[in-house]
Amino acid sequence: MRDASTAPDRDAPIGVFDSGIGGLTVVRALRRRLPDEGIVYLGDTARVPYGTKSAETIRRFALEDALFLAGRGVKMIVVACHSASSAALPELQRHFAVPVLGVVEPGARAVVAATTRRKVGVIGTTATIGSAAYETAIRSLTDEVEILAKPTPLFVPLAEEGWLDGDVAEGVARRYLASFAEEGVDALLLGCTHFPLLVPVISRVLGPGVRLIDSSDETAAAAGALLEKRSLTATKGPGSSRFYLTDLTPSFDKVGARFLGEPLGDVVRASVTACDNSSAGGRP
Ligand code: DGL
Repeated sequence: MRDASTAPDRDAPIGVFDSGIGGLTVVRALRRRLPDEGIVYLGDTARVPYGTKSAETIRRFALEDALFLAGRGVKMIVVACHSASSAALPELQRHFAVPVLGVVEPGARAVVAATTRRKVGVIGTTATIGSAAYETAIRSLTDEVEILAKPTPLFVPLAEEGWLDGDVAEGVARRYLASFAEEGVDALLLGCTHFPLLVPVISRVLGPGVRLIDSSDETAAAAGALLEKRSLTATKGPGSSRFYLTDLTPSFDKVGARFLGEPLGDVVRASVTACDNSSAGGRP
């Protein structure tokens, strides 16, 4: 069922949600590429991680997150979380009248374009890889690419802890990524919000012959194209950002700044449960 909103206002903000603060890598890319657009970001820090949870639970959480953003009058929803995109995108697209963009399809297109040996790797959380959403997205583009997909869940806490390089990060990366090098993969899709932070160690372990695809950039480009297509690009700029988190954890500002590349500024605690959002419209 779709929500009851009327045609979106092109100067309304873009809504972005993630399971936590990792989706700020997508906000960073959106700000760089679309500086005139306002952004409302929701990070579900009270319920993170999503990547270890069942598809059913992730879908419920994703719907609640998107309803929160719809209640703030956004003109488009970007699902920055790969685990949520993998589990819930079609359902969210059916539910909301505003365009809903996930991170899977833009990343899949980019990795297919990047491979010359026709062998690609995909890494992500256990939920993302278990869903096979990336395989499905790549297969919808081509049958001629071999796909090696592997969950690399320990990269998530490493990125949050700021252990981006050094012995531990390198040891984990070697253990996870050795098979990609052995199999001759030449393009690796970073299928998780946290992985762009680990690019230096991942590229050192895989060597210069493997191109790393950062989905946050691809998603920002796809968001820009979708806004153009729907005549929804902002007419005034520069856009500002508002940040909502479902829990103000002790380290959110420090970790958030690492993902965003700058301090977050004001952050508001939000509640996203279904009953709190009964006025947001559209819950079937
Ligand atoms: N944001 C999640 C993703 O991109 C990573 C963190 C989590 O497991 O919730 O899949």
